[in-house]
Amino acid sequence: MRRLFLWAAGNRWLKEHLPRLPFMRRAVGRFMPGESIEAALAASAPLHAAGIGTMYTKLGENLDRLAEAEAVADHYVTVLDAIRAVGIDGEISVKPTQLGLDHDEAATLAHLVRLAEYATETGSFLWIDMEGGAYTEPTIRLYERLRAVQPRTGLCLQAYLHRTAADIERLMPLDPAIRLVKGAYDEPAAIAYRDKRRVDANYLGLAVQFLLAGRGHSVRLGLGTHDVALIEQVAEQVAPAGLGHDAFEVEMLYGIRTGEQFRLARAGYRVRTLIAYGDAWYPWYMRRLAERPANVTFAIRSLLP
Ligand code: FDA
Repeated sequence: MRRLFLWAAGNRWLKEHLPRLPFMRRAVGRFMPGESIEAALAASAPLHAAGIGTMYTKLGENLDRLAEAEAVADHYVTVLDAIRAVGIDGEISVKPTQLGLDHDEAATLAHLVRLAEYATETGSFLWIDMEGGAYTEPTIRLYERLRAVQPRTGLCLQAYLHRTAADIERLMPLDPAIRLVKGAYDEPAAIAYRDKRRVDANYLGLAVQFLLAGRGHSVRLGLGTHDVALIEQVAEQVAPAGLGHDAFEVEMLYGIRTGEQFRLARAGYRVRTLIAYGDAWYPWYMRRLAERPANVTFAIRSLLP
């Protein structure tokens, strides 16, 4: 089931036709407050009131032409202005291929530097998402060059990849900000663990390794997962080293385990919700369906009026 949805996420014909179906639009509403940035910002109100920070990402990936990246970067500049105007603890999260990585790495870096500069100026923060395996190395390279000049920047790393422990070690001298996720793409066994238990065990080890190695440094760790048991295990394992709940941040997606997001915030965890918006939601939504078969039942129920 997971592989089928991940295949569908990359299928051009389905990408063009499925999003037009009204039931699909109804179903995706569970994970997205709307297609506009205004809808995404409005959704932050109850989170903000509960002390939960937010991140905003405009859905979209793999541009046809490099020139399109300019408009994407311009858009995120207006989002940073809007975050400042609303006065919330909001950050932005971007995909490198949305800024032209398929076409020109140097141009992508220039867009990232511009966004990071403006994020700093507006008191915000720039996160870089991690995409499929073909982009891992260029994305880490981009982050290394970005982080050297822009401290208020972070990178997503995926615990299902065999290489991630070495990547963390490589990035540690930069005092990085890392969002650790399990990984959402269909990667081959040659580069990724495909068994959930191994991914979870690697996730735990990487998070603990990062927090212990980062003690006394200005590193930042976001646990980008809805796996609350795993989050609690990380907290338990670092507690003997004197690291409390505030040593890391819990990062979850809008619409997933919402009750847990509020509960964890009440329990003293620092929580941040990633809110996605935009009309290019199809591949992203397929990845959410792949993560949890129960979401498919929900989507089917949306077929009903
Ligand atoms: P797992 O799949 O084990 O789920 C744990 C529990 O969470 C489930 O039992 C269920 O209750 C709930 N849950 C999980 N997914 C759900 C869903 N879709 N619908 C409903 N319930 C669900 N990946 C990537 O490759 N690159 C990236 O840049 C990012 N960025 C990112 C940011 C943030 C803030 C988050 C939370 C996640 C990502 N991801 C990502 C996605 C990540 O790799 C992973 O696919 C999902 O988080 C699902 O895995 P979990 O860690 O939640 O665990």
